[in-house]
Amino acid sequence: MDFVIPIDSQADIPLHRQVYEKIRLQILSGRLTPGQRLPSTRSLAQSLGISRATVTQSYEQLLSEGYLETTLGSGTFVCDQLPDDLLNTVPIESTSSATNSSITLSAYGKNLNNKAFLRLPELELQINFTYGRPAFDKFPIDLWRKLLSRHCRSHPSVLDYANDSMGYQPLRQAIASYLSRSRAVKCTPEQIIIIGGSQQGLDLIARLLIDTGDLIAVEEPGYLGAQRAFLSQGACLFPISVDKSGLEVTNLITTSNIKLIYVTPSHQFPTGAVLSLERRLKLLNWAQQSGAIIIEDDYDSEYRYSGHPIPALQGLDQGNSVIYIGTFSKVLFPALRLGYLVLPNNLVHIFTRAKWLTDRQCSLLEQHALTDFIGEGHLERHIRQMRSLYNQRRQILVQSLISQFGDRVQILGDNAGMHLMIKIDTYMSDEVIVQNAAQLGLGISAAHPYYLNNSPGSEFILGYAELNEQQIQEGVRRLAQVILGV
Ligand SMILES: Cc1ncc(COP(=O)(O)O)c(C=O)c1O
Repeated sequence: MDFVIPIDSQADIPLHRQVYEKIRLQILSGRLTPGQRLPSTRSLAQSLGISRATVTQSYEQLLSEGYLETTLGSGTFVCDQLPDDLLNTVPIESTSSATNSSITLSAYGKNLNNKAFLRLPELELQINFTYGRPAFDKFPIDLWRKLLSRHCRSHPSVLDYANDSMGYQPLRQAIASYLSRSRAVKCTPEQIIIIGGSQQGLDLIARLLIDTGDLIAVEEPGYLGAQRAFLSQGACLFPISVDKSGLEVTNLITTSNIKLIYVTPSHQFPTGAVLSLERRLKLLNWAQQSGAIIIEDDYDSEYRYSGHPIPALQGLDQGNSVIYIGTFSKVLFPALRLGYLVLPNNLVHIFTRAKWLTDRQCSLLEQHALTDFIGEGHLERHIRQMRSLYNQRRQILVQSLISQFGDRVQILGDNAGMHLMIKIDTYMSDEVIVQNAAQLGLGISAAHPYYLNNSPGSEFILGYAELNEQQIQEGVRRLAQVILGV
């Protein structure tokens, strides 16, 4: 972790006090977030060129005041619960040694200060079933480098501001025809806006369509990235339960005043359920009757290993009820930060304005390279190869789980995606399982943080796309060691 604390060895203020003060200010200003791990006293002392005893003294002071907490064997973290009065005003770090001033956050800033935004500490783990990460080593990086350098050389315009904020027109054209071929999405390139990944799409949707107090329906359990974007605008979240056919649409129909609903119909996050055709039609019908907007997040629909793909909701929509979000984070790589919104015609103009105001445009160089990547057939080839690889990895994971846990494990969700959810028959708490697994160098995520109401517990999300056969088998063996003691 990069951790920079400017200290002044010539100043009158003792060094341990300076370190204490700087860390405290970083916590209060939100630069260090609750749950975030601090460097060890030894490594911080080394990087600052001061004694370890000095750093230890500062840490001890912060621990005693409730800014930090320690977990035996895992390190020192920013406290999850800071004293309430500290959360309302945020002192800003002053450049001089003068006294600190305080600023009052906007409604948006205050919403971000909410506990729902806590990040969990990131640990270094040998085998990590973290979800959502593709097989990085299989990405055709040499080809990508060639495409980037082709456009660097031949198009000086890739260095310039774009003509408009919707994105590179040939890329929007390529995406429109890809979506029509593979997802039965009905759109023209003029309905597509290129965005910096799905998260930017969710942020734009929240800012343009949500006011404080609006009732927004979300899947229960559901995707935190969407919920947090909605909460940041003061939304009231209304959870709708999910069963093995996806969202329980009947529970939605009986509720009034819902302005917008967020769904992941192709592969519900995190349960993996696929929304049945019957429910898709009911959902669309409800949206048309009630005037609500449906946000369809199609984040990993490319990976379906059996059965016929069900067309996207957007393609079944007879009205203007669906905003469709797609991302290249799963099919290519997340650091690319490219995705797209497919919008009803009447919303294109306002979203384009908001995109311009937010960041002008996505990087043109990557948009040019991606246009060729799609146009020359590499995208669909890569997806085919990854579909076969991830299918194998999923089968290995399922077999390993069954052979280690037998009927004590239930595999939830459809035969699709890059992660699966399991329910384990155990009396151990989720926290103890996750912590004990981490002690064995194994990363797994409990599903309970994805529930707004009480979760049933003993459910875990396992991402497998990035792990090879040996890692998957060894990971499941360690999980069995934690839970079954074998
Ligand atoms: C449900 C869902 N939507 C979207 C994304 C991708 O987000 P982005 O495109 O911002 O990388 C993820 C990533 O894990 C996800 O789980």
